[in-house]
Amino acid sequence: MSTTGHVTIVEVGPRDGLQNEDNVVPTAAKVAFIERLASAGLAVVEATSFVRPSAIPQLADAEDVFRAIHRREGVRYPVLVPNVKGMARAEDAGADALAVFTAASEPFTKANIGMTIAESLAAFEPVLARAAELGWWRRGYVSTAFGSPYEGDVPTERVVDVAVALLDLGCEEISVGDTIGVAYPADVDRVCHALFERIPVERLALHLHDTYGRGLDNVRAGLVNGIRIFDSSAGGTGGCPYAPGAAGNLATESLIGLLDELGFDHGVDAAIVREAAAGIRPFLSV
Ligand code: COA
Ligand code: ZN
Repeated sequence: MSTTGHVTIVEVGPRDGLQNEDNVVPTAAKVAFIERLASAGLAVVEATSFVRPSAIPQLADAEDVFRAIHRREGVRYPVLVPNVKGMARAEDAGADALAVFTAASEPFTKANIGMTIAESLAAFEPVLARAAELGWWRRGYVSTAFGSPYEGDVPTERVVDVAVALLDLGCEEISVGDTIGVAYPADVDRVCHALFERIPVERLALHLHDTYGRGLDNVRAGLVNGIRIFDSSAGGTGGCPYAPGAAGNLATESLIGLLDELGFDHGVDAAIVREAAAGIRPFLSV
């Protein structure tokens, strides 16, 4: 594999990390976490979710968090938006980058957002159109791309179809997620090859979980396939509360360690990421 070049780390700790916490983390601690992560050199820090507060009470303070962040020049702070109501809230709070999220598994999508995959795409259409009009950066998630907690195996073609549908709706980047951490490197190869038939590699990110200790092996497989954008969570916290057993986001510190070992440039100061993770830990339940 070529080990020259830059890898972009998309930090998802403040959103994916905190959404599955039993404890509700105080707003000020979230803001400090986000600001510290941005100061570490991370170019993308996913800040919060404008989802239904009763669905994710942990992030019910999205407006307060977003308004309080001192934003750094050159750092992108996407927020999760599920529908036009969420878009209006995100706009009001001053966001300028978003992520919409659906999945490659019907039962998971139903459990997570109460919609079929097709309904979710229809719900995103006006959201993404409005975001494009405002010049926002737009990301789309395809969760459970390597397996679903509700139906096991997920057909590769469905992953590709959903990813292409999100691109067609105006997403600039697609993050393909192993929500429950079941992928093996051969699965990463399979899904990457299928995606590359329809989508340029620069527009693809991998969102890997370390649930069974294969996170870094799968990152390596992604790198071999030419993927240069990876999601991770400082301290390895979090996961989706609607995906049983989804704990174990890939830790940003571990990802940085692997990239350093292989010689990739990433521009992130690991010591500051560790400080950020240590700063939020006292507020977490585990
Ligand atoms: N922000 C705030 N409130 C919202 C909202 C949003 N984005 N979307 C809907 N609501 C409110 C509605 O106003 C309505 O309130 P009311 O009963 O007081 O009138 C209520 O929620 C129900 O609205 P409805 O359109 O029927 O939504 P729903 O209950 O079918 O929920 C989602 C759909 C997508 C909004 C919800 O399932 C959700 O937020 N899921 C997020 C899950 C998540 O974040 N998972 C982790 C990420 S992987
Ligand atoms: Zn995750």
